[in-house]
Amino acid sequence: MSTVSETYEGTIEREIYSAPQIAGAIEQLAARIAADFAGQPLLLLGVLKGALYVVTDLARAIARISDGPSEVIVDFICVSSYGNQTRSSGEVRMLKDTTETVTGRNVVIVEDIVDNGLTLEYLHALLAERKPARLSTCVLFDKPYHRRVDVPIDYVGLQCPDEFVVGYGLDYQELFRNLPYLAQLQPWVFST
Ligand code: IMP
Repeated sequence: MSTVSETYEGTIEREIYSAPQIAGAIEQLAARIAADFAGQPLLLLGVLKGALYVVTDLARAIARISDGPSEVIVDFICVSSYGNQTRSSGEVRMLKDTTETVTGRNVVIVEDIVDNGLTLEYLHALLAERKPARLSTCVLFDKPYHRRVDVPIDYVGLQCPDEFVVGYGLDYQELFRNLPYLAQLQPWVFST
């Protein structure tokens, strides 16, 4: 029987950000968010599946900061973006709505990556309609090269090269999410 590591063997072209570099970026995002919401309740809303690690690591990093938010609640929304294999079309299908009420709350949408911006724009518009007290957006990896809409991003972690990337929650055909670092795949992977 083969292991997951063996499945991934030979598929990685290069590491873009190591696990410690990602952890450092999360700490910096946490510090900024904790300062901006000091003394206030905060709802961190992770966008599944890609943001699963970002939101859990971010929530725990915020907890380690003194004088941060008065409370942190974590919730998830699950969407699937249509498109070709490596780029979304902005046609978003809601698979799971929030469990928590958004109205009147301080909400930070936490996304894994923003590319053309259509997915985040959809989510921002959807949640803004529900009249949160404050609505902010946090993105770990920013790919600004093919932006089609000018969606506001309040907290950006790391710049991402103009490549399709995997790891730390990001997938290719549902694989590679559990790589602890961000990576570029070898070209042959896309042709199989
Ligand atoms: P956008 O709508 O183009 O901004 O893309 C948003 C979504 O597309 C992200 O939440 C990811 O799920 C996916 N995505 C965009 N770029 C990548 C990538 O390089 N690797 C994996 N998923 C990506």
